[in-house]
Formats: sequence, C-alpha cells, structure tokens
Amino acid sequence: MEPIAHLVKVSVPNYLAGLPIPESIGGWFRLGVKDWLALVPPTAALAGLGYMSYRAFCPHARPAPCGLVNLKLKKDVAKVVDTIDIEDISEKAVFCRCWRSENFPYCDGSHGRHNKEHNDNVGPLVITDNAGD
Ligand code: FES
Repeated sequence: MEPIAHLVKVSVPNYLAGLPIPESIGGWFRLGVKDWLALVPPTAALAGLGYMSYRAFCPHARPAPCGLVNLKLKKDVAKVVDTIDIEDISEKAVFCRCWRSENFPYCDGSHGRHNKEHNDNVGPLVITDNAGD
C-alpha cells in the first residue's frame, strides 16, 4: 500500500503543481509550445476518464447486457408476441429483427444505427407476395 499512498499523496500532487496552468484566461495565450506539450498527458488522462464515465453512466452509451436482445420493447410482459393476419399484408411487409424499431414489429430503419454503433449486420425480414408475378 505504501507505493500507492506515495503516488496519491506525493507524486500526483507534485506533478499537478508543476503543470503550467495559468492564473488567468490571458495566460493561456502566453503559454509556449513546451507548456502546451506538458499539458497533453493530463488532458488526455482527463478525457479518457470523462469518456469512461460517460460510457459507465450514460444509458445510451452502455452496451447491451450480455445476451439481452430486447432492450426496451414491452418490458412489462413476460414474452413479446405480435400477431399479424396474412390477409392484412398486401404486397410487401418489412418486419424488424433488431428489436430497435420505434414501430415494432415493423422495421423503421433503426437497424442501420444499431449496425453502425455495434459493428453488427442485422436487417429486417421482408415478406413479399410474389404469387401474382
Ligand atoms: S428497425 Fe429493426 S430490422 Fe429494421
């Protein structure tokens, strides 16, 4: 524990105290290249910490819990079942298979955003009536 205590109580405070942080806004414009370079590592560390916090606390940035497909649709029922009479499908119907559609069970194109964000490749189920062809 002693190395960690030394790091927290001595090393980090000394490092932060040595950073060229100006006392006024105008001081930022008087910093030299060497000063700006000295500010890059702590700025990168703060940005990384901010990003990790965003990922941890922002619900939209969090990945789906492992194995969970349905993130938001009809969460108050034990099983989501939709029934569509085949007679109600005229020539073509496009059904969502990604579970992200705001118009579920129909596809609204939300799979595109999901695919982009998660490097996935899901798409809709398209039912067509080719009997008349
Ligand atoms: S919105 Fe889900 S497949 Fe298109």
